[in-house]
Amino acid sequence: MPEKVFIFDTTLRDGEQSPGCSMNLPEKLEMARQLDRLGVDILEGGFPIASHGDFEAVKAISAEIRRPIIAALARANQLDIDRAWEALKEAARPRIHTFLATSDIHLQYKLHKTREEILKMISWAVAHAKSKCQDVEFSPEDAGRTDRSYLIECCHAAVEAGATVLNLPDTVGFCLEPDYQQMFSDVKTRVPGMDKVTLSTHTHDDLGMAVANTLAGIRGGARQVECTINGIGERAGNAALEEVAMIIHVRRDTLPLYTDIRSEELYTSSQLLIRLTGMAVQRNKAIVGRNAFAHEAGIHQDGVLKNAITYEIITPQTVGMPSNSIVLGKHSGRHALVKRYEDLGYQLTKPEIERAYLLFTQLADRKKSIYDEDLLAIVDEGFQHLPEMYSLKLFQSVSSNEGRSTSTVELEKDGATYHDSATGDGPCDAAFRAIDRITGLPGIIVDFSVHTEGPGTDGRAEVRVRARFEDREFSGKCTSHSVVEAAARSYLQTANKAAYERRRLDDATAVSTGSVHKNEAVDRLFPGGF
Ligand code: KIV
Ligand code: ZN
Repeated sequence: MPEKVFIFDTTLRDGEQSPGCSMNLPEKLEMARQLDRLGVDILEGGFPIASHGDFEAVKAISAEIRRPIIAALARANQLDIDRAWEALKEAARPRIHTFLATSDIHLQYKLHKTREEILKMISWAVAHAKSKCQDVEFSPEDAGRTDRSYLIECCHAAVEAGATVLNLPDTVGFCLEPDYQQMFSDVKTRVPGMDKVTLSTHTHDDLGMAVANTLAGIRGGARQVECTINGIGERAGNAALEEVAMIIHVRRDTLPLYTDIRSEELYTSSQLLIRLTGMAVQRNKAIVGRNAFAHEAGIHQDGVLKNAITYEIITPQTVGMPSNSIVLGKHSGRHALVKRYEDLGYQLTKPEIERAYLLFTQLADRKKSIYDEDLLAIVDEGFQHLPEMYSLKLFQSVSSNEGRSTSTVELEKDGATYHDSATGDGPCDAAFRAIDRITGLPGIIVDFSVHTEGPGTDGRAEVRVRARFEDREFSGKCTSHSVVEAAARSYLQTANKAAYERRRLDDATAVSTGSVHKNEAVDRLFPGGF
């Protein structure tokens, strides 16, 4: 029977305390809700004594998030433990997590205490925490560099005082897998009463070993793992939750284990954390990086398109990534190109494929990666000689730091003037929505980028917009001194292309009494190929 590994998420504590990752209360709550959706078993909400913000966050999370255990960190002293309990006491399933360093290095240079004094402090702190809360976790900080016999004594003291979980941290990311695994086996076999106690890993990535050591700890007997989304955490970070969870999922053939993580929430969790902290992950980050499922080599792309199993051990859908991104480059073949156009809503005819492929290879010689934007530019050539259906005569946007923005737009079409207003999240969005109201074609923004030309605030802004109308995407690009104007004009270009296609479709439908498949309109849209 596979055994469950409990996921203890410390994104909001060890993760949040690392530079550049701090979050305010609403942000922590938003993240906590997502961690709940993800299915973490234990959610460490913060270190209540550390700041008022941490205290309030643990309190608010305890009041709202009812399914997982909510843990709060406390040093092994009364003030910390009482404060942690104060923040936790509304939780449906509270846990006090108390810690004290046990390595000689920490005792000598940081705590200035003897081993005997530390043992007494552990017994007292765990017992005090236990008098308030049934569930008490104890961490001998720097366990990885603690003398083994002394570590056993410390763990024994904690278990005797009532600890329900023993967490053995490799605080400085120093351990190699065999040492870390052995430490767990030793504690499991040499500390009396371990049958009622859960062992837990807590690893840091200073030597890039955090995830590997987590697995080593599991092999040594741990059934709880402490980790963070995107591997954020002190210094080089903690073990990445998404990596640990997916290793256990993908390699269940050799690891008789499971977690309750809902893998399809992993990508959303990662993206949310990036949005809240501004801390991006590298493109090639395992599981959640932008390139994690991107194949560029032609042989790989061809294989993946025939059957993803050829080069993918996890599908992007398993981790909730929208779709696998074939990164097109000079090594890509026609098959990948056609597939990407299909994803963008274009069914190309044979001559069109040849023409697109030619233009694509020319571009790929100059540019390392070809993005959707470039592919759309290739088909957009077909629009270049078309008259503009709607032209922008005037726009006015009012934005404020509170509430929504408003925009009024005036467009001209066939000599007639149309104007309308709309509100939106920011002046650009409001302008887009006003344009939608006039054209009757609501577009969804798929991509929006602003590039400023020249230094200072008086430079020109180049705005690129990609928008989806029904099942097809169109792109627009415009430069202006005003970002909002450039955005409105770019969006109008996409709307013009969509309106043009709509008209062609309507005409075709009217002429042929039968129904017309949208994709067939490509032939009419690009007469003679583009
Ligand atoms: O790394 C560490 O030792 C910790 C403890 C507080 C568990 O984060
Ligand atoms: Zn840590």
